[in-house]
Amino acid sequence: MKNKSNFTANGPIGIFDSGIGGLTVANAISKVLPNEKLIYFGDTAHLPYGEKSADSIKYYCMRISQFMLEHNCKTIVIACNTASSMGYEVVKDFVGKRAHVINVIDPVVAHVLKNKNMKSIGVIGTKGTIRSGIYEKKIKQLDAKRQVPSLATPLLASMIEEGFFNNKISRTIINAYLNSRKLNKIDSLILACTHYPLIKPEVEEFYKGKITILDSAGIVATEVASVLSKNKLLSKSKSPKHQFFVSDYTDSFEQSTKFFFKGKIKLQEADIWK
Ligand code: DGL
Repeated sequence: MKNKSNFTANGPIGIFDSGIGGLTVANAISKVLPNEKLIYFGDTAHLPYGEKSADSIKYYCMRISQFMLEHNCKTIVIACNTASSMGYEVVKDFVGKRAHVINVIDPVVAHVLKNKNMKSIGVIGTKGTIRSGIYEKKIKQLDAKRQVPSLATPLLASMIEEGFFNNKISRTIINAYLNSRKLNKIDSLILACTHYPLIKPEVEEFYKGKITILDSAGIVATEVASVLSKNKLLSKSKSPKHQFFVSDYTDSFEQSTKFFFKGKIKLQEADIWK
């Protein structure tokens, strides 16, 4: 295992998730930082992360981070709420000074805390993220008066991964969750799973503009830009060639990647578990 950092300003940004969810973050980063080369890893062999134990998630996160370090990534973005809630601390310890590590939770929490109008902030996410109670802990730690009612919505990530959104069935499932009494007094809602921006229009349709709906993609992209700029690590390359890896090929992953990155992608399988 290498201990030295080999990254340079023109090195890539590593981004990972269990599947296509992190592509919402990767897409936002590529818009805010068009000169940056991205290396994306979708751990489709272990999807859904939301059902896995904390120990398994930590192991997957460390192994994928090792893969990112082998590709000389200057920054590693854990583009998954479940992995961020259980794996961020171990990844940070493991990576040390070899790269910057960014999770998708802290930037959203900071955004909420800055916004005094958000008093009752609903959170929907995987079983793992909600069980960790991380949003509630982090928000209440800094402002105990805020309410953070949280609801696990376990069907949503797998449904989206299968390309099932913006149809009658997805709307029925989304509405059944959002009708939960737990969420009936919220003034804002965090989509605490990186798959959920893909159903944001359906969530907006349910609330009809009555509450603020937040997802992590844009907020995290801004954070990545600020970390790179502060550390003088912004790339100057003109036409970066992104790379996309999966641990197990799926057709829906390939379709989604082509959708987000306009067709010109080559999906590679990487068996990093040997
Ligand atoms: N996209 C992931 C998240 O943000 C998880 C989906 C899953 O694999 O369960 O939590």
